[in-house]
Amino acid sequence: MKKVLVTGGNGQLGNCLREVLERETGIEAVFTDVAELDITNPEAVDKFVGDLRPDYIVNCAAYTAVDKAESEDSQAARLNTEAVGNIAKAAARHNARVIHISTDYVFAGDSHRPYAENDEPYPQSIYGRTKLEGEGVLKAFCPDCIIIRTAWLYSEYGGNFVKTMLRIGGATKSIRVVSDQIGTPTYAGDLAECIRTIILKDNPSAGIYHFTNEGVASWYDFAKAIFRLSGMEEEVEVTPIGSEEYPTPARRPLYSVLNKRKIKETFNINIPYWENSLKKCLKQMK
Ligand SMILES: NC(=O)c1ccc[n+]([C@@H]2O[C@H](COP(=O)([O-])OP(=O)(O)OC[C@H]3O[C@@H](n4cnc5c(N)ncnc54)[C@H](OP(=O)(O)O)[C@@H]3O)[C@@H](O)[C@H]2O)c1
Repeated sequence: MKKVLVTGGNGQLGNCLREVLERETGIEAVFTDVAELDITNPEAVDKFVGDLRPDYIVNCAAYTAVDKAESEDSQAARLNTEAVGNIAKAAARHNARVIHISTDYVFAGDSHRPYAENDEPYPQSIYGRTKLEGEGVLKAFCPDCIIIRTAWLYSEYGGNFVKTMLRIGGATKSIRVVSDQIGTPTYAGDLAECIRTIILKDNPSAGIYHFTNEGVASWYDFAKAIFRLSGMEEEVEVTPIGSEEYPTPARRPLYSVLNKRKIKETFNINIPYWENSLKKCLKQMK
């Protein structure tokens, strides 16, 4: 039986992991969020990990408000970098392995082919920079860690693009969506399944991995699919616009498709196509 501590358990990925791991008999998981374990508190993290003695810590906690981070850089750094250091030190001291989630925003987004794990990072936002620095701190203390970079995460839990589209589109019947930023919508439930597979392996290979759903889309394509698969295509008019027509405090990568060959080959996993997973999530949301 593998013992797993999950941090940030009330977030999108944390909730999906709860569903996946509660069905799994080979794993005993303890879920925490800030009320049970504030990862910015180094003593609390060390004590919790020392008492529980987990085989794995899966860190789903993060400062994920990308635009707000531009004006709250110290709060973003506290959670995305310093707190990851707290987890890393406790894991190293108490012999736990860390599975940590990072982001496509570590890259500049000016590539024309999917980013591989060893491509040079060049974050364009405070969020991206603090997440990259979190990767660095973790690798320094825990060379056996597993870092999974993902992108465009959505789920039936919390706030995300799918819910925003359904809310605004449903109310206004007309919406303008950026069509020149390309990436891959990723269902947090699929990432949770991937994390379970990794935990169940004997001594899984350490390193950085990329995970998203299969395929590529613009935010406009994503929005069109959300309305089509929800039976709202006729009701809601979606207009494609350029990024310059939708200015945001944080700069978004124009191209953030991730190459997933390494995670598929290393852990022998099949990844669903993004539209199929979107269909599944919309069904769950009903
Ligand atoms: N969402 C995306 O599109 C996306 C894309 C790429 C990568 N990622 C990465 O994927 C991971 C999971 O993202 P997500 O969308 O599931 O995030 P999320 O929904 O924002 O969940 C993060 C969780 O962490 C909790 N948290 C905040 N401060 C904490 C603290 N001091 N101690 C413990 N927990 C704390 C949050 O609680 P509160 O809600 O109360 O603050 C929330 O429950 C993150 O590492 C994120 O950077 C996300």
